[in-house]
Amino acid sequence: MRIQINARNRGFEFEARSRESVLYAGLRAGVPLPYECATGTCGTCKARLVSGRLRDGWPEAPGRKHLKPEQGEFLMCQCAAESDVTLQVAQLINAADPGGCSPDACPGVLRGARPLAPEVMAFGVELDRPRDFDAGQFMVLAAPGVDGYRAFSMVNFERGARRLDFVAKRKPGGGVSEWLFGARRDGEPLVLFGPLGAATFYPTLGRNLLCIAGGSGIAGMMSILARAAGERYFERYRGWVFFGVRTLRDAFFLDELSSYTPGVSITVALSDEQVPATATQRWPALAFAHGLVHEVAGKAMAGKYENVRAYVAGPPPAVDAALRMLLLEAKLTSDNIRYDKYS
Ligand SMILES: Cc1cc2nc3c(=O)[nH]c(=O)nc-3n(C[C@H](O)[C@H](O)[C@H](O)COP(=O)(O)OP(=O)(O)OC[C@H]3O[C@@H](n4cnc5c(N)ncnc54)[C@H](O)[C@@H]3O)c2cc1C
Ligand code: FES
Repeated sequence: MRIQINARNRGFEFEARSRESVLYAGLRAGVPLPYECATGTCGTCKARLVSGRLRDGWPEAPGRKHLKPEQGEFLMCQCAAESDVTLQVAQLINAADPGGCSPDACPGVLRGARPLAPEVMAFGVELDRPRDFDAGQFMVLAAPGVDGYRAFSMVNFERGARRLDFVAKRKPGGGVSEWLFGARRDGEPLVLFGPLGAATFYPTLGRNLLCIAGGSGIAGMMSILARAAGERYFERYRGWVFFGVRTLRDAFFLDELSSYTPGVSITVALSDEQVPATATQRWPALAFAHGLVHEVAGKAMAGKYENVRAYVAGPPPAVDAALRMLLLEAKLTSDNIRYDKYS
C-alpha cells in the first residue's frame, strides 16, 4: 500500500506492509513522523485521512480522546492502510537525523525471565540478527496471544546487540504482564519493532547528566549509564541518578548502580517508608532518602543545574511532577529535558 503524507512543510511517500501501522511504516522508511508512546495512549501521532481507507487495530485506544473523528482524525500508531491513502499531519516534519538507528520489525525469542523485586521482572529477547540502538531507546513488543504492542526500554547498551534486556513492572490484569508473570516460557517467539524514542544519550552531548526515574523508569537510565561509563564520560562530566521506589523491597539494580559510583552520585528515594538502617550498610556507595523522587532530586540538585541535560522516565504522575520541578524550579529549558512516560 502506498502512503502519501502531507506535513505542514513538505510531503513524503512510502510503502506499508500488509497490516503495518502507518506510523511504523513511515518510521521504517526513514520519515520522522510525530509520536511519543507508539502504542495508542498519548495521541501525539494523530493525523487526518484525506483519501483512501484505513483499518483501526484498536478502536478503544485511550489516545483517541485527543482526536476529532468527525474530521477524519486517527492515530497513526494504531491504523493500517487498506488501500493507497493520502494523509495530513499538522506538524512540520523535517528530514531524519543522519546517524540515528533506523527502526524495523525484528523477531526474537524470550530468554531468562527472572523476578527482580515483588512486582518487577527482568527478561531478555534474543534477536534473529544483530541490531543497533541508542542508549535510552525503547522497543515495542508483541507477545503470544496478546493483542497489540507494548513499549519497553532497553536496559543494556551494545552496538550490534544480539540480545536486548528489559525490565517490566507488573500491571495487574495487563495482557503482557499476565503473560510475563504467569504463563510465559523461555524460547517463546516475540515480535519487536524499533528502536524508538528520543530520550537518547550520545557521548558528544557535552553536558552533566541528571537522571530521575520512577520504578521501572530506571531501565533506560541503566542503558544511558552503561553507554556513558563505557566512553569514560564521567571523567569529564558529572552525573546524578535519583531512583524512586515505594520501599526498599521494591528497589532493584542497586548493586549495578553502586558500580557507577563515585563517578556518578546515586540516590534511592523511598516514598512510603523511612530509610531502613540496613540500606546504607548493604549499599554503602549509595545515598538513601525518604520522599517522592522529584522532591528528593529537587532538594539535592538546588544550585547544580548549570550545563545539565535531564532524563526522566516512569509512571506518568511521577514524570509530570519531575517535569514541573525541572521547568519551574530548576528553570531548565525544554530542549535540555528528555522524558518517557510509561503510560
Ligand atoms: C516509551 C515507553 C517506554 C516504556 N518502558 C517501560 C519499561 O521499560 N518497563 C516497564 O515496566 N514499562 C514500560 N513502559 C510501560 C509499559 O509499556 C506498560 O506498562 C505495558 O504496556 C503494560 O502492558 P500490559 O500488557 O501489562 O498492560 P495492558 O493494560 O494490557 O496494556 C497496556 C498498553 O498496551 C497497549 N494495548 C493494550 N491493549 C491493546 C490492544 N488491544 N491493541 C493495541 N494496543 C493495546 C496500550 O498501549 C496500553 O496502554 C513503557 C511505556 C512507554 C510508553
Ligand atoms: S504515539 Fe500514537 S498514541 Fe502515542
